[in-house]
Amino acid sequence: MGVFVYPGSFDPVTRGHMDIIDRAAVLCDKLIVAVLTNRSKTPAFSMAERLDLLRTAIGDRPNVEIRSFDGLLVHFMENEGAKTIVKGLRAVSDFEYEMQMALINKHLDPTIETLFMMADAKYSFLSSSAVRELARHGGQVDDFVPAGTASVILAKYDRS
Ligand code: PNS
Repeated sequence: MGVFVYPGSFDPVTRGHMDIIDRAAVLCDKLIVAVLTNRSKTPAFSMAERLDLLRTAIGDRPNVEIRSFDGLLVHFMENEGAKTIVKGLRAVSDFEYEMQMALINKHLDPTIETLFMMADAKYSFLSSSAVRELARHGGQVDDFVPAGTASVILAKYDRS
């Protein structure tokens, strides 16, 4: 229980993210979806756009909050009084990077745990970058992004 944080770029949010959000939210008192202000790689969607898409997707789920953060995740966690990081794993290819992050975060703050959830098999191939690629080339994204967000995502690429 307690406060869980689900961090990511959410550039943009996908149905895979929503699956993890729904499954994690029932395991905690409060789930904070934490959107990284990404300084090293320029996101396709601005912070305001990514937050808006998440608001549309998450709607009125009572124990889910959306925040942005900058800097280290463990510092954000400490400020929020959160002890658990939630991450989704799609395939073995996600494992190495996620293990490195989990171990670095554990080193930085040994009181913080990372909880991994296996992505639903029907989303195991899905990524924000695949959604961007589809949208850029006028492909259908409806099946991959939350209800109400497809038109905004396509509009970004003048494909609405
Ligand atoms: O959706 P993403 O891009 O895979 O999310 C990556 C994220 C935001 C979880 C990760 O980059 C992160 O936690 N960044 C914050 C900086 C940090 O704390 N890094 C860990 C120590 S190097």
